[in-house]
Amino acid sequence: MSLSFPPGFLWGAATSSAQIEGAWNADGKGPSIWDAFCREKGRVSGGDTADAACDSYHRFGEDVALLKDLGADVYRFSIAWPRIFPTGRGPVNQAGLKYYHRLVDALLAAGIQPFCTLYHWDLPQALQDEGGWENRATIDAFVDYAELIFREFHGKIGKWLTLNEPWCSAFLGNFIGIHAPGKKDLKAALAVAHHHLVAHGLTVNRFRSLVASGHASGTIGIAPNISWVDPYTDSEADRQAALRGIQWSWDWFLDPICFGEYPEPLAGWFADKGFRPPVLAGDMDAIRQPIDFVGGNYYFATAARFDPSPEGGLLASTPVDLGLEKSDMGWPLTPEGFTKSVVRIHQRYGLPFYVTENGLGLNDPQDQRRIVYLDQHLRALRRAMAQGADVRGYMAWSLLDNFEWAEGYSKRFGLVHVDFATGARTPKPSFGWYKQLIGREKAGAEL
Ligand code: BGC
Repeated sequence: MSLSFPPGFLWGAATSSAQIEGAWNADGKGPSIWDAFCREKGRVSGGDTADAACDSYHRFGEDVALLKDLGADVYRFSIAWPRIFPTGRGPVNQAGLKYYHRLVDALLAAGIQPFCTLYHWDLPQALQDEGGWENRATIDAFVDYAELIFREFHGKIGKWLTLNEPWCSAFLGNFIGIHAPGKKDLKAALAVAHHHLVAHGLTVNRFRSLVASGHASGTIGIAPNISWVDPYTDSEADRQAALRGIQWSWDWFLDPICFGEYPEPLAGWFADKGFRPPVLAGDMDAIRQPIDFVGGNYYFATAARFDPSPEGGLLASTPVDLGLEKSDMGWPLTPEGFTKSVVRIHQRYGLPFYVTENGLGLNDPQDQRRIVYLDQHLRALRRAMAQGADVRGYMAWSLLDNFEWAEGYSKRFGLVHVDFATGARTPKPSFGWYKQLIGREKAGAEL
């Protein structure tokens, strides 16, 4: 049955550089913070590294052929900054640029639009050695890297994302400490988040000037996590606890971008504890640049209960296990939260929206659960659209099983199975299901 997405709706799949490329030190690439993090004992499950991953650096032709077979309109991928600038700035590594030209040319030849993320967490380690995103100098390095990419792919790439899930790179990486660089310091995490935002704003600004002078093309946005949080009960305390969860993962980034200020009451909640983002004069204006669209990555929803005990942590909020079915990630399967997140994005920010990631991490050889997950989430998305959300496209996470960060290769999100010993790619039943759906939707849209 057709879900009747509107004509022009873009269908696709997503990946990221560090998770699929491998070739971690090939052709002049510098190490990223994830290459370093993988080498620290006990950081990544099973001691896995991203050294080889899916070897897409060499096998990208197979990936593009899979996308073509799928009927994808768009492919969301990211550029590895240390492949272009091995130490974060300085001389360009031409071999790295050439790889992305070959990938983008192959996509264009296959009739697939490239949807490019500039930063999906693989900061050059050389910049981390100078303080990473805590150091404002990283902002300038990022904007210069972005400018090079905009100029280089002028006329070839039309859709841009500055940052992927800044909550993860700031807070999972620097406060919770389970992602690179593995710190547990809220002050550092708030600085990283703030510098992400300034880098985002200055990049958008640079992009606009380049477009105006005929040196860049396309539209630009950002992709926060849009996990939903319901209050466990109707009490004001639970409602505030749930709101803090949502404000932390997305409003913290989208409010400064769209309204020029950090969200309340969460900013006050942090300030009461003595923590404030390190805002310098002019920063909030630099961050508040009109963007063309919002991207969002949705996986699951939780129910939050107010919990002032140490267990409630920074937000005084504990997730309640509602006994729902869970993925291998331990995430509950909650399609209705998707509708709520997308509607809230629409109501709060009023911008066109792309689903930049959505998928299931489950190692299930029969692969029936992934089909149900995708079907339920696409229906949930359609309901959000029926409530007015202006959704322009959907990118499934992920095209391939890949390096799932701190979980290593133990979790599989792919529409395509990857044998990590040989690199062999085998489409799963969900690939066939999604391909049929895309075909039906497009045929419906053409009627
Ligand atoms: C990230 C991906 C990740 C996925 C599943 C998002 O947090 O953008 O890189 O693999 O979710 O965890």
